[in-house]
Parts: sequence; structure tokens; C-alpha cells
Amino acid sequence: MRSSAELVLALAVFVGASTGCAQETSSDEPVVEDATSLEERACPDDSYLSWENFGGPFMLTWCNGCHSESLPDGERQGAPLLSNFDTLDDVRAWAADIWEESGDHNASMPPVGGPSEEEREMLAEWLACGAPAD
Ligand code: HEC
Repeated sequence: MRSSAELVLALAVFVGASTGCAQETSSDEPVVEDATSLEERACPDDSYLSWENFGGPFMLTWCNGCHSESLPDGERQGAPLLSNFDTLDDVRAWAADIWEESGDHNASMPPVGGPSEEEREMLAEWLACGAPAD
């Protein structure tokens, strides 16, 4: 039979191991990348991302080849007609959907290839901060 000291030790190890699984956050670390929606995604205080230095070029490089008002039906490779991300207003209107397809660890868009994980995190951060213009 176990002594009570052994039981206490076993319990302490068990509790230690289970709390060790919990996500540890510290203010120095980048904020939540496992959010399940754009609303949950945090905006870091020191974010410098804007439409000018990030969002516009990102959309142009990775999305506007299919999602642009200038592309008629038949030249959009199947991208739905109303999903255009040419302007900041467009992107703000579609922000939650864009995050779901392409932000953080979501890699459904573009359909093949696309931005690096780091760029997807930057997209998520910029959107979570309200997609500032400059
Ligand atoms: C090669 C063409 C192509 C590129 C590039 C592309 N998409 Fe798409 N997109 C599609 C197609 C096709 C669909 C419709 C099928 C689907 O939803 O998978 C779509 C659908 C979407 C939708 C859903 C639209 C709706 O009406 O519900 C969003 C949001 C979206 N894409 C975002 C993006 C973002 C953000 C990028 C850039 C990071 C991007 N896409 C790049 C082809 C593309």
C-alpha cells in the first residue's frame, strides 16, 4: 500500500503535468495565433502594419489575380463575382472572411501556394487591428 507521502507526490506530479499543458502567455510574446475568429484575434499594441505598407501590396500579390473588379466572369478562375479586394473598403467589408481563408494558420486561399506563415500572421494582425490605412 502507498504511503500518504507517495500519494501527495503523485498528485503533485499529475497536477504539474496537466497545468504544464495550458498555454502560457507572457506580454513579450506575440499574441494569440490560435484564435477561431477575427474578433478573437488580438491586435498587438506595437503593430505598424497599414494598407500602404502591407495590406494593399499583400492583396495585389496574393489575391487580386482572381479577386478583382477588373476581372470579368471567366477570368477569375472561379472566384465569386462579388468577392473583390481591390480597395481598403472592399477588404474591410470582407475582413472576417479574408481572415478565415488566409489569416494566421488558415491557408485555404489562395487555392494553391501563397504567402508564408509569417505573412499570414501579418495579415491577421493587420485585420485584427482594424485594417488601418496608414
Ligand atoms: C487562383 C485564384 C484565386 C486566388 C489567387 C485567390 N482566390 Fe479566393 N477564391 C477563389 C475561388 C475559386 C473561390 C471560390 C471557391 C472557394 O471558396 O474555395 C474563392 C473564394 C474566396 C472567398 C470566399 C468568397 C465568397 O463569396 O464567400 C474568400 C474570402 C477568398 N477567396 C479570399 C481570398 C484571399 C484573401 C486571397 C489572397 C490571399 C485569395 N482568395 C486568393 C480563387 C482565388
